[in-house]
Amino acid sequence: MLSADTDAVVSFRNVTKRYGDVTAAAHLDLDVTAGEFLSFLGPSGCGKTTSLRMIAGFDQPSEGEVFLEGQRVNGVPAYRRPVNMVFQHYALFPHLNIEENVAYGLKQRAPKPPSKEIEMRVGEMLELVQLSGFNKRRIWEMSGGQQQRVALARALINKPKVLLLDEPLAALDRKLRREMQIELQNLQRNVGITFVLVTHDQEEALSMSDRVCIMREGKIVQIGSPLDLYDRPINRYVADFVGKSNFFDGAIDRIDTTAVNVKLDCGLMIKANTGPDLESFESGDPVCISVRPEQVILARKEEQLPADCGVKIKARVMNRIFLGEHTEYLLRDEKLGEFLVLSPRQNERSERPFDKDEVVLAAWSRDTALVLSSE
Ligand SMILES: Nc1ncnc2c1ncn2[C@@H]1O[C@H](COP(=O)(O)OP(=O)(O)OP(=O)(O)O)[C@@H](O)[C@H]1O
Ligand SMILES: [Mg+2]
Repeated sequence: MLSADTDAVVSFRNVTKRYGDVTAAAHLDLDVTAGEFLSFLGPSGCGKTTSLRMIAGFDQPSEGEVFLEGQRVNGVPAYRRPVNMVFQHYALFPHLNIEENVAYGLKQRAPKPPSKEIEMRVGEMLELVQLSGFNKRRIWEMSGGQQQRVALARALINKPKVLLLDEPLAALDRKLRREMQIELQNLQRNVGITFVLVTHDQEEALSMSDRVCIMREGKIVQIGSPLDLYDRPINRYVADFVGKSNFFDGAIDRIDTTAVNVKLDCGLMIKANTGPDLESFESGDPVCISVRPEQVILARKEEQLPADCGVKIKARVMNRIFLGEHTEYLLRDEKLGEFLVLSPRQNERSERPFDKDEVVLAAWSRDTALVLSSE
C-alpha cells in the first residue's frame, strides 16, 4: 500500500476517477499540509469539483488512494470524515432561521450537545462571520454575501479538520466577492483550519492561497505558491493561466553554456538565459518565449536600455491606458506582432509618457524571458 506524508491533512496517491468513459481526474498526487489554504484552479470541466468530492467522500476514486491525516479513507462515507464542504449554491435551509441553520450540524451529532453549548457555539460562529444579532432572521431576509457567511458558519461549527469550498463566491457580484475573499482569508487565519478551495478565477486563487494547484483535463499541471507559478511556470498553459503574458512561438536554435537562442516563427532570433529546465530541450524543439508585460522596457534612447537585452526592437504604440501607478501600452512590431507592456509611472516622471502612434524602443533583459514548452 502507498503511504501518505504524515504531516499532510489530505493526501492523494495516484488518484483516478472515471465516470463511464469520462476520466474526470487522472493520476493525482497531492499533499495538503495542516493549516494551509490551497486552491484548485482550472477551466470548466478540468476535474476540480471531482477532486473536492473525493476529499469529502461524496465520490470514491476508481483507482489510487485518499488519506486524511494519514488514515486511508477509501470507502469511508462523507459523514464519517472530519471535513465539511461549502457548495457553490450554498444550500441553506429556507424553513430554518439563521441560528437554526448554523446549529444544524451540531444538532445532528449523537449524542447531541446540551442546548446551552449549542447556543454558545452558534453565538461564537455568528460572531466569527460578523453576523452577531442576526440569529432570528430568515434566509430570504439576508443579502447574498450574508447568506454566504451563514453557510460558512454552518460548515465551521463542527470544527472540521478541512473545509472544502467549491466556488463559494461565484454567485456574488465583484465588489462583494472581493470583500468576501478578504474575509475568508482572515477567517482561515483565525480558525487555523485547512481550506481547500475550488475556483476558475485566477485572481481569487492567487490572492487568497498559500499554494495553487493548476489543473487541466483531469491532471495536475503544477502546484506552487502564487509567486512560484508566476515566476517559474512549467509551461505555456500555466504562464497563461497565472497573470498576463506575451507569448512568441518559435523553436530552439542553439543552446550554449550561457544562453539559449530561439528562432521565432516570425524570423527574429531571441536570446534567453539557460535555466535548469532547459536541459530537457534540444535544438529544433518547438517552444514559446513568455515575457510578462511589466518586464518589457520602453525607451526613446538606446542608452536607456539594459546591456543584456534578449531582444531590442522598434515598435509602434497602438494604444495607451492609464492605470494609476502603471500605464499599459499595446505595441506592434512588424515581425513580433502585438504585445503588451506595463510601465511603472515612476519611470515616466522624468520624461513624458509615450504617445499613441509613437515609435519607441522596446527591450527585455535576457533573464526575464522564459523559454517554455508550447503545450
Ligand atoms: N457524475 C458524473 N457523471 C459523468 N461525468 C461526470 C460526472 N461528474 C463530473 N463529470 C465529468 O467529469 C469532468 C470533470 O468534472 P468536474 O465537475 O470535476 O469539473 P470542474 O473542474 O469542477 O468544472 P466547473 O468549473 O465547470 O465546475 C467533466 O468532463 C464532467 O462532465
Ligand atoms: Mg465544479
